[in-house]
Amino acid sequence: MSNEANEANQSNQANQSNQTKQSNPAPETCAGKHPAPPCTLVIFGAGGDLTKRLLMPSLYNLAADKLLDDDMQIIGVNHGERETSEWRDELTQSLRKFAADKAATFHTTQLNEQAWSWVTQRLEYFPGEFTEDETFARLKERLAKAKSGNVLFYLAVGARFFSPIVEHLGAAGLLEEKDGNFRRLVIEKPFGSDLASARELNGCILKYAGESQVYRIDHFLGKDTVQSILAVRFANAMFEPIWRREYIDNVQITAAETIGVEGRGKFYEQTGAFRDMLPNHLFQLLGMVAMEPPNSFDAESVRDKKAEVFDAIKPLSANDVVLGQYEAGPAGPGYREEAGVDPDSRTETYAAARVYVDNWRWAGVPFYLRTGKRLSERRTEISIQLKAVPFLLFRDTPVDALTPNVFTLRIDPAHGTTFDFNVKVPGPVMQIGKVRSAFNYADFFAERANVGYETLLYDCMLGDETLFQRADSIETAWAAVDRVLHPDSPLPVRGYAAGSAGPAEADQMLAQDGRTWRSLTETRDTHDAGKKD
Ligand code: BG6
Repeated sequence: MSNEANEANQSNQANQSNQTKQSNPAPETCAGKHPAPPCTLVIFGAGGDLTKRLLMPSLYNLAADKLLDDDMQIIGVNHGERETSEWRDELTQSLRKFAADKAATFHTTQLNEQAWSWVTQRLEYFPGEFTEDETFARLKERLAKAKSGNVLFYLAVGARFFSPIVEHLGAAGLLEEKDGNFRRLVIEKPFGSDLASARELNGCILKYAGESQVYRIDHFLGKDTVQSILAVRFANAMFEPIWRREYIDNVQITAAETIGVEGRGKFYEQTGAFRDMLPNHLFQLLGMVAMEPPNSFDAESVRDKKAEVFDAIKPLSANDVVLGQYEAGPAGPGYREEAGVDPDSRTETYAAARVYVDNWRWAGVPFYLRTGKRLSERRTEISIQLKAVPFLLFRDTPVDALTPNVFTLRIDPAHGTTFDFNVKVPGPVMQIGKVRSAFNYADFFAERANVGYETLLYDCMLGDETLFQRADSIETAWAAVDRVLHPDSPLPVRGYAAGSAGPAEADQMLAQDGRTWRSLTETRDTHDAGKKD
């Protein structure tokens, strides 16, 4: 991972002592960052949504930051004949639209024409079926003439094409690294749909490529707020001593969405909320919170520590999971009425789980995970709930109960942290009241153009695997949930109203443990203004 956080920290030291919002520092250029080495980026799925929405905008932002090498070339493979000029026009149109809609994630609302033209000059459309030998034979000839021998193969395609593409690349000898040039594979999620399929996919990939050539993406790890979890934990002396079972009562990891399945009904029907979010995105957050301090910040040290966490997760059982599906409610019609969805569908759009990490640091501390579509709030956050104080010093005063301290890492849509603690309410009586101290990124740092894939793409080109998932971690994560994915009898899917906080059974799961979920509206007024989904 880059040491950007560290640099940003130093250059903003003057601001650190100031809690109130001052004029923001000028947007930083990428101080200390160099252009990535030259490479040819081959995108399988050139016509897909991922290419339009995320890859091209990220390449554009990287080009605007001058982080790409002049000899870079971008070859887009897709079935269907078309001219490169048509592909360019289509991408230009979509980029202009995104730039207008999402100013914050781009350099300006007006496209930086110079940066975009830098990208478009390097684009080349390459027609070809993903499953035919002929495509790969032609690709081999084309790559032999590329400006750079380094090649990054990006599989921005449906999961059913992962193995066939890798097999064809391997058979054509396109994954062999020669003359000091790299050949890397970038694979999107979903990486398998259970332990057996993930093992099979890893087996296929590792037959043709070494582990160090494989970059398995989890886009949550591209978020600055997620990367910052390690900075908060390991760049401050105050957290580490209490970051353990002696002080922490429970950890709640939430990824609540207000959107529905957004036209992806067909995909979602086969996937469901649990597979879509839990063993990948939510486990990655859990890994960042629960891992031991690594010896250094290099890829293997960090990934080893994360792998240890997944390995320590006690396999989930049916009692640890609640599934739900949204029904018609204040936020609109039910899931079964969505396009592409079976009217009798039993696919879950909500999943909650109780997870235990069986190791010295976390034994007995539940990690409650939840995610869902069409919930009342958009909120991705991690709440660390501390234990109550050991002794109620104020028992002779009108203090009923103290609210335990809660430290929350806010990932989306607000970026920052909050800390809930107790103080004396002013007045003659000793009365205790809960207060909240909040840190908001925007108060300290200039907002950076970022669609979330910039760091990931840049790191792939640099060969930094810190933010990518290793084969063993993927498999241990699936192993932890495999029993729930293949239960003896189907798990019940509970109804919840679209626009609510999820099924009542998820509340009951925590109630059995004498706990409650942190309300989705708890921090609604803290820095949420103006933040969109
Ligand atoms: C994707 C899931 O991986 O992550 C989507 O397939 C989900 O269903 C999305 O909406 C959430 O990501 P983010 O970055 O919008 O929180």
